[in-house]
Amino acid sequence: MEYMDIETVKELDHVFGDIEELQKFRCLMMQYECAMLEVKTKLDVLNTELSVQNSRNPIESIKCRIKEPDSIMKKMKRQEIPFSVDNIEKNLNDIAGVRVICSFPDDIYTLADYLEKQDDIKLIKKKDYISHPKPNGYRSLHLILEVPIFLTNEKKMMRVEVQFRTIAMDFWASLEHKLKYKKDIDNAQVISQDLCFCAELISQLDGRMQQIRERLEEKKDNTQSNITGV
Ligand code: GTP
Ligand code: MG
Repeated sequence: MEYMDIETVKELDHVFGDIEELQKFRCLMMQYECAMLEVKTKLDVLNTELSVQNSRNPIESIKCRIKEPDSIMKKMKRQEIPFSVDNIEKNLNDIAGVRVICSFPDDIYTLADYLEKQDDIKLIKKKDYISHPKPNGYRSLHLILEVPIFLTNEKKMMRVEVQFRTIAMDFWASLEHKLKYKKDIDNAQVISQDLCFCAELISQLDGRMQQIRERLEEKKDNTQSNITGV
């Protein structure tokens, strides 16, 4: 796997001043990539076990990404943090990002609980934008975790941001993201209000879909106890 192609490295050459700092940056990004893989594997394992227990997958899909160097620089500039590799590690929690798209809202809490309880994981921060949505309607559960990675000669704790959402919440967030980054649009306020309304509809839809699933599961349980006589 190539962690940073040669073109990117050339582009970054002038940012870091010396080759040692650039090499340190590449090394740090590699470590975040490893941490991201660790978290993804943990989620894959939970998904596999829960799918056997419940005869359905709690996870629809997982998306992983490492923050682009350009976005890292912009974020540090915004936060007025001097640009250095040490400062990236000290100040940014979202270099490694894992987005978990779940089928139902209760799957989100089940998975997050199992993940944060694992004894090699340290929960740094939790933001529940599902029970407390943002004013614009944004909903997701965010965890900042620290996970160990085992390198050739050290064990290192690395931070990873994990976002849990339902399919419907993800659909909403993608559309809202487009609005945020689109400049000079007419009716931006009307669109924002419309999006906020849609977020509420989505929340109701997620709740009702979950209720239907629960009713179907009750039925299945009854059928099973009829068969076994319990
Ligand atoms: P960032 O500086 O953007 O990382 O925000 P933060 O440090 O205040 O953290 P927060 O947990 O609020 O948001 C982290 C990430 O969640 C963002 O980078 C987005 O990916 C996502 N997010 C948060 N708020 C919104 C929102 O209103 N709309 C959308 N589409 N995504 C959001
Ligand atoms: Mg972010």
